[in-house]
Amino acid sequence: MKTVFSGLKPSGDMTIGNYLGAMKHWPKDQGKHRTIFFIPNLHAITTRQDPIQLKKRTLDLVAWLLTVGVDPDQSIILVQSMVPQHAELAWILNNYVTMGEMSRMTQYKDKAKKAGPEGLLVGFFDYPALMAADILLYDSNEVPVGEDQIQHIELTRDIAKRFNTIYGDTFVVPKGVIPDTGARIMSLDNPKIKMSKSDHPDSSISLTESTDSILKKFKRAVTDSDNKIAYDKANKPAISNLIEIYSGFTDASVAEIEKKYADKNYAIFKSDIGEIVAHKLSLLQNDFNNIRSDEASLYSIIDVGNSKASQIASEKLKIVKEKTGLL
Ligand code: TYM
Repeated sequence: MKTVFSGLKPSGDMTIGNYLGAMKHWPKDQGKHRTIFFIPNLHAITTRQDPIQLKKRTLDLVAWLLTVGVDPDQSIILVQSMVPQHAELAWILNNYVTMGEMSRMTQYKDKAKKAGPEGLLVGFFDYPALMAADILLYDSNEVPVGEDQIQHIELTRDIAKRFNTIYGDTFVVPKGVIPDTGARIMSLDNPKIKMSKSDHPDSSISLTESTDSILKKFKRAVTDSDNKIAYDKANKPAISNLIEIYSGFTDASVAEIEKKYADKNYAIFKSDIGEIVAHKLSLLQNDFNNIRSDEASLYSIIDVGNSKASQIASEKLKIVKEKTGLL
């Protein structure tokens, strides 16, 4: 049976980018494959976090997983810091990846440009080794993510192959899987940059956003020069981004959307998309609020998930230690 593995970092409010690029697609693999979803809170601390917020957001994300349909009876849900094998394997894998490889990671390079060496934590630089450990501990075959994570998964593949070459088959070499639409949702006020939870509020829509604010933000969203609803990523990046969002929330294809709006203008399209997103999010928010209010249940779900995960992870770590001569 194939294993599908992925996770969401509790470092800020979830955006519709996280939803359309990743989370929304996870429940459909349940039942067909072994599915494991986790909250990488050790990744979150690679930038400074407020401890109270971090704890709250970790539980928020567990509740969001359940809200979008991840079923704890069919999937393992775990919290990274509670399964110590993640950090332990990451330390070992550090020794199978070079400074050069790590330095070529776009996420690191982008941040390094802005922050400089004194503004960046070592944990942030080392982040892909921990990500490789997350994935490789569970013999993951597929990792459904947004496009920005593909480079990290490529590095994970290189680390796995390198380790396998030295010690014989140990790790499954994983594959990153991105959705056909929504793999890279862009900022609403600048279609050249990715929508991100850390950016300023006008550029993104959080999953907890109010209807009013959603409608306003779509009205204000930048568009391209002609007034045509047509998908053309190179020449019409802003409207193409809105079409991807529309498609992600309705499951209508790009062609169907273009046809529906062939003789409509941007104002109508933006008003419709605002309504659609606001409606869907208000339904999700309702479910989320119910699920989130029962903290005892959330803790018991992660207790069960953590212990199932620990069992799998400790077997893998034992093999790695035997192969590398670690007592
Ligand atoms: P994170 O928490 O930044 O994002 C979670 C998921 O959301 C996707 N995503 C997007 N997709 C489309 N458009 C966007 N604008 C957008 N923004 C974010 C991300 O690609 C991701 O799939 N390093 C990971 C967390 C992680 C992980 C792992 C994931 C740690 N270990 C092992 C998979 C497997 C991260 O920071 O994702």
